[in-house]
This record gives sequence, C-alpha cells and structure tokens, in this order.
Amino acid sequence: MAILVFDSGIGGLGVVAALNDLAPGLPLTYLADNGFFPYGERPDEILLPHILNVIGKAIAREQPEAVVIACNTASTIALPALREAFPLPFIGCVPPIKTAAATSLTRSIGVLATAATVRRPYLNSLITRFAPDCRVLALGTPALALLAEQKFRGAQVDVSDAVSPLFTQSGGESIDAIALGCTHYTFLLPEFMAMRHDISWHDPALPVARQTLKIIESLSLSEAPRTARCTGETIAPHLLAPFALAPMAPLKTE
Ligand code: DGL
Repeated sequence: MAILVFDSGIGGLGVVAALNDLAPGLPLTYLADNGFFPYGERPDEILLPHILNVIGKAIAREQPEAVVIACNTASTIALPALREAFPLPFIGCVPPIKTAAATSLTRSIGVLATAATVRRPYLNSLITRFAPDCRVLALGTPALALLAEQKFRGAQVDVSDAVSPLFTQSGGESIDAIALGCTHYTFLLPEFMAMRHDISWHDPALPVARQTLKIIESLSLSEAPRTARCTGETIAPHLLAPFALAPMAPLKTE
C-alpha cells in the first residue's frame, strides 16, 4: 500500500525528491506516462480520457492509498473527473500564482507552463483569485519540458531562447516573480536562476510534497518496494537511483 506519484515524464520526480527530503522512506510508486509525452501538446478531448484510462490501469495494478498528480497539465484538466471516478484522495499540482504574487514588488508576474496549461480557464481562475492586482504574463511552450527531459539524461541545455519571449512581451521587463507551471521545470531551476538571478522563481514541488503529507497523514501506509513504471521507454536505473526508485516492467495502457 503506497502512494502513486504520476506525471507525463520525469517532471513528477521533483515532487518525489521533495517527499524524500520531508519523509524519507515513504512508500511510493512512480508512474511516467512517457509513451504519451508531451501532454502539453495534446488536445484536451484526447488527453482527458487518456489520463482517466492510464490512472485507472495504474490504480488497478498498484492499489495505491492516494494519488499525486504531479503534473500541472493533467491536474488542470483531469482532477475533478479523477476524483469522481476513483474513491481515493487525489493531490493535484497547479501553477504557483499565489506565491509568485505574494513576493512581487512590481506587481508584474510571469507564468511559464505548457501550452495546454496556459490556455485552460483554470489558470484565469487562479489569477483572479490570487493575483487580481497583478499584471500576469503567461508563456506556453513545448520546448522547456523537452529540455528538462534532455537535461535529466545528461545533456547540457540552454533555456534562454525558450524563456526570453516572456520578457519581450509588452510589460515583460518589469516581471520580478515567475510561477513555474510545469513540474518538469524543477529540473531547469539552475538554468532559470543563472539566466535571471534578479527574479524569484517559484517551483511547486515542495508545496505539493507538503500538501501530500498533510492529506496522507491519516492513512496507514505499509512498507512497500519503491518502484517506477513507464508507459514508454524505461528510465535507466542509475537515473532513478537518486530518487530511491527501482525500474519495473512498463505499464500496459491498452
Ligand atoms: N510535467 C507536465 C506538467 O506539469 C507537463 C509536461 C508535458 O508536456 O507532458 O505540466
């Protein structure tokens, strides 16, 4: 009986790392739906039933006690449907507009996310709720999640071409806080900070891990092997070892 942490690729491993720091040894299993990556470029009407199917298969296979949707693109479209379909606690992940707005002095904040997350009405509702007095510039891009996947596998990456359109938008020059609305971007934080160290970059991995621990407090989790499954290409064991996860056979989604 473990918790299931889910993403379209390596992004949710940032949440796993934060969980490992806060609660070492927590029984968890990771699922990367990398056979369908990138979620951010998929149409909503295909993505929603796909996520319900994959999570359904994973729940049947792993019998988790709770599920962390460590993916903004999936959370912003599928959380209500998942909660309705499966009688388990679901913890989601949304762009940290609230913390970015709380730190901004210029009242001009940025959001970096996938194209799908940027076009979702959910983003507007977060802005209305948490940053009503801010100018919010959002950039949706497929490039950064891909760069994060490449960096994770050892490549040197340059984020400047992908990020700079945010600053060339009208008003972009006054941005002093950026909400990272895609879990993959946790792995690009050093590059973002090297590019603009005068900006506060807000990564939700730690808050999502804290929220997870709060929600699972009352559950009784038993010892379980910590495993990782993919729906596509397997992630090499040496890349999973720092997260205390062992690779298992792929999850069949058909
Ligand atoms: N990690 C995912 C997120 O948080 C998105 C990456 C993708 O496009 O699949 O939105």
